[in-house]
Amino acid sequence: MHIHRYEKYWLMFGGGIIIAFIVALFVNAFAMGMTPPSDLQRVDPKKVEQTAPFDKPGLKQVGPNEYEAVMVSFAFGYNPNQIEVPVGSKVTFISTSKDVVHGFQIPGTNVNMMVVPGHVNKVTHTFDKPGEYLILCNEYCGAAHHMMMAKVIVK
Ligand code: CUA
Repeated sequence: MHIHRYEKYWLMFGGGIIIAFIVALFVNAFAMGMTPPSDLQRVDPKKVEQTAPFDKPGLKQVGPNEYEAVMVSFAFGYNPNQIEVPVGSKVTFISTSKDVVHGFQIPGTNVNMMVVPGHVNKVTHTFDKPGEYLILCNEYCGAAHHMMMAKVIVK
């Protein structure tokens, strides 16, 4: 059987593209260590309580109006489950999970992240208005998923 010359070129071209994609995928995923920006640090999910900063969860002031809120996510809650900051505070929430994937969302704000076990997940928000803000889990994580919440009090 005779394959037309142009057909042969196109076959080679197609095969070459596939190989180029596979190479690009491996270079991006492994060689360059591409991961989402919130997953730059890792933590052993079984040793969360022994690993800094999760060994001392809670609120820490890091600047004039800046705070870090280290919160451990677990089925079914957050530790701590309430923090209080002054109006105008810029708060960086830092969380990891001790078990399964959880959500970390404050409705009405830009705070909406996945909390993935094994990873340190971060999101920052400035609270310009006083009030009580609920932190909700928006990833289904088990029977009491709908009970999983915490509170930010801004005053
Ligand atoms: Cu945690 Cu749903």
